[in-house]
Amino acid sequence: MGSMRLKAVILAGGFGTRLRPLTCTRPKILFPIGNRPLLDWTLEGLARSGVEEVILTVNYMAETFMQRYGEFSHGLRIRYSREKRPLKTGGPIKRAEELIGHEEAFLALNGDVFTNLDYRRLVESHRRSGATATIALYRVDDPSRYGVVELAEDGRVMRFVEKPPPEAAPSNLVNAGIYVLSPEIFGYIPEGRPVSIEHEVFPRLARDGRLYGYEFEGLWVDIGLPEDYLEANRLFLDTYAKGGWLGKDVHLEPDVEIVQPVLIGNGVTIGGKSKIGPYVVIGDHTSIGQGVCITNSIIFADAVVADFTSIRGAIIGENAIIGRWVKIEDRCIVGDHAIILDNVTLTRGVTVCPSKEVAESVLTPARLM
Ligand code: GDD
Ligand code: MG
Repeated sequence: MGSMRLKAVILAGGFGTRLRPLTCTRPKILFPIGNRPLLDWTLEGLARSGVEEVILTVNYMAETFMQRYGEFSHGLRIRYSREKRPLKTGGPIKRAEELIGHEEAFLALNGDVFTNLDYRRLVESHRRSGATATIALYRVDDPSRYGVVELAEDGRVMRFVEKPPPEAAPSNLVNAGIYVLSPEIFGYIPEGRPVSIEHEVFPRLARDGRLYGYEFEGLWVDIGLPEDYLEANRLFLDTYAKGGWLGKDVHLEPDVEIVQPVLIGNGVTIGGKSKIGPYVVIGDHTSIGQGVCITNSIIFADAVVADFTSIRGAIIGENAIIGRWVKIEDRCIVGDHAIILDNVTLTRGVTVCPSKEVAESVLTPARLM
């Protein structure tokens, strides 16, 4: 790559939908993966790949990003491009045109993706083909939730279709939300309005023969749905913390049973006869009572889980309070600051909005406001 200065634009705005109850105190891009904000993982990966400068495109909760990352973080210069209203996935890139400049190709990333892709490889592939845009591609079982491509032998994308119905998907190679773009791209994005890069820009580039794909393997997950977010944390545990990890000032009663992999944050307490794991991440300063059973779940920081409660396959928000003898199951989300009273059962797919108090059991998928 010689002496070029590689820049990366990160899309860090927009609103998560399904995970909304957990976005009270942090945007989706800052959700913890292994108790560390997703954006920290991304910045670290970019710095490792030789990126020098990152432009965060932000709208909602812009200050949260600015306070946390300032002007310099992870060895990268950080700049901000603020939108007054959300500009979707292409508009923010156009808006950052001046900060990006026209000298070199640059990286552009969806901020809600957890991956260990070597960005350098993607840049090299872009250089080789001379494309206007190269998109990182990942093979999945169900492509219908993503952008899907039809790829030619030589790596050219013949067709790009955003979220096709399952039977209409041209392949199971999907847009991983990571691109290298050459400055000509600015000519393809209209100015001053929201633009979807997937609907308006990529199909046109494909028709012009200017869009290429680069397939990779390894870790990749878009944390958009609760099950994906749980999966991202499972991948983290399997890859980086197989033997588990204990924070500082943790207090476990001697008869707590830990089934690895489990990550326990700083200042966590866990009462006697509780069984934790496998695949559990517990945020800092959370307090867990006795006889509690937790598997395949994420508990955010400062939550309280009282005695004899069981949590399986769920996500519990920051400062949530879960009473005694509560049962929370598959794909439930308990929003930040919510309260679940004693003896309540929440089965499959119940979402509890932030600060909501739940006094009665809910046995079918529902959203409790
Ligand atoms: N700055 C800014 N402004 N960022 C935004 C905006 C906006 O108005 N809207 C969305 N974003 C950010 C989101 O925070 C996210 O990081 C990224 O853009 C993509 O938006 P999502 O809403 O998460 O899109 P998606 O997951 O449904 O689909 C996209 O990602 C898939 C892969 O993860 C598409 O790019 C698909 O083609 C792709 O397969
Ligand atoms: Mg997404």
